Amino acid sequence: MTTPIIDFVRRYAEKNAVRMHMPGHKGQNVLGCEPWDITEISGADELYHARGVIRESEENAAALFGSARTLYSAEGSSLCIRAMLYLALMQGRPPVLLAARNAHRVLTAAAALLDIDVRWLYSEENSLLSCPVSPAALDAAIRREQPMAVYLTSPDYLGNTQDIPALSAVCRAHGVPLLVDNAHGAYLRFLPEDRHPLSLGADLCCDSAHKTLPCLTGAAYLHVGKNAPAVFAQQAERALSLFASTSPSYLILQSLDAANARLAADFPGQLADAVRRLSAIKGRLADHGYALTGDEPLKLTLAPKGFGYTGDGLHDLLRARNIECEFSDPDHLVLMPGPATPAADWQRVESALLAVPRRAPITQVPPSLPHPARACSPRQALLSPQIELSVEKALGRTLADAHAGCPPAVPIVAAGEIIDGDALRCFRYYGFDTCHVIA
Ligand SMILES: Cc1ncc(COP(=O)(O)O)c(C=O)c1O
Repeated sequence: MTTPIIDFVRRYAEKNAVRMHMPGHKGQNVLGCEPWDITEISGADELYHARGVIRESEENAAALFGSARTLYSAEGSSLCIRAMLYLALMQGRPPVLLAARNAHRVLTAAAALLDIDVRWLYSEENSLLSCPVSPAALDAAIRREQPMAVYLTSPDYLGNTQDIPALSAVCRAHGVPLLVDNAHGAYLRFLPEDRHPLSLGADLCCDSAHKTLPCLTGAAYLHVGKNAPAVFAQQAERALSLFASTSPSYLILQSLDAANARLAADFPGQLADAVRRLSAIKGRLADHGYALTGDEPLKLTLAPKGFGYTGDGLHDLLRARNIECEFSDPDHLVLMPGPATPAADWQRVESALLAVPRRAPITQVPPSLPHPARACSPRQALLSPQIELSVEKALGRTLADAHAGCPPAVPIVAAGEIIDGDALRCFRYYGFDTCHVIA
């Protein structure tokens, strides 16, 4: 697998050229990475008008992911989500998006910017903790809402995945494209059994490479599926460039370039080892009495109240042993190990968790999921003058933040929705003190 971006930048750095161009550090070392931090000089290609080294590298990534087109983002999945929504609009259908409620707040913000009407798909479980969508519920919702696209978040922050093969079949039957926020699941393609949403029928997919692959923070992909509407591949560069910085980080682009070589070589084997290792640890933790949740193979999500601890409390105990986890709240503790986790660290995490003494279960359960009424569109809410209020004073007001909460997996209230008593109970439970409401 070639690494054209890295090769170009190395050659340039070795040439020791006089840098009469951006960035301002002029390649002089302070952090140690400056010589390789360049801008779009001659030969470096242009992200979002990629015809040279970037295009070659993206084509390597497309071959690895089995996509019709893969484009790089140096600004995370957040940028790709805005682009996905713009591409959905490019089909020329009425701007209605059907989205599972466990969406990241970038979705609501992007919908507001693009004036897209989001119709939420709630789960039948009525839970704040996950949002499984059944094929029957999706089928009924598509018939009812006639959306331009369906948007799913899978995996979500807590490691819950949707049944993408079944849900993509429903979308296909209706001729509605499926967009998947796969920010947490770039690695799914490289499992012994490919579980990447694109391989399972999604038309557009964003992956935060930085979350689970050996990449720098900010590195992400926008993938276009082979059976997606032609306009998606045709307009993908334009879609990203509409929202992106015109100064992409070449350090991030090089890390995506380098990842291709790893993904084509040793990464799948290392991933299989990591998943096997984690699965064995999960088994031993379950035998010890911990409840585990989520079905994502590279995430360890504990629901430790039955063991006598809140997620936050257990996180504190691990922090005292110098172990920093990805996320915790009253109900969950999320750990994200990976193929790059050193052998000694796997051992430390397991030993630390097994050393925690079991206590009497905590019986307090999370409040049930609010179904807030809608006062106005997310666009009206986010673009209105707003004030910050204590959550108590916000009762009855309309949320002007993109989301309140999330995680938990499902936002408590989204932009344009009215903060009711159920939402207030959730705010108190999750420790939110203030929120922004329409003034
Ligand atoms: C489910 C989900 N989608 C999207 C994003 C945004 O991804 P990024 O940080 O790569 O922009 C996140 C970030 O945590 C996320 O959890």
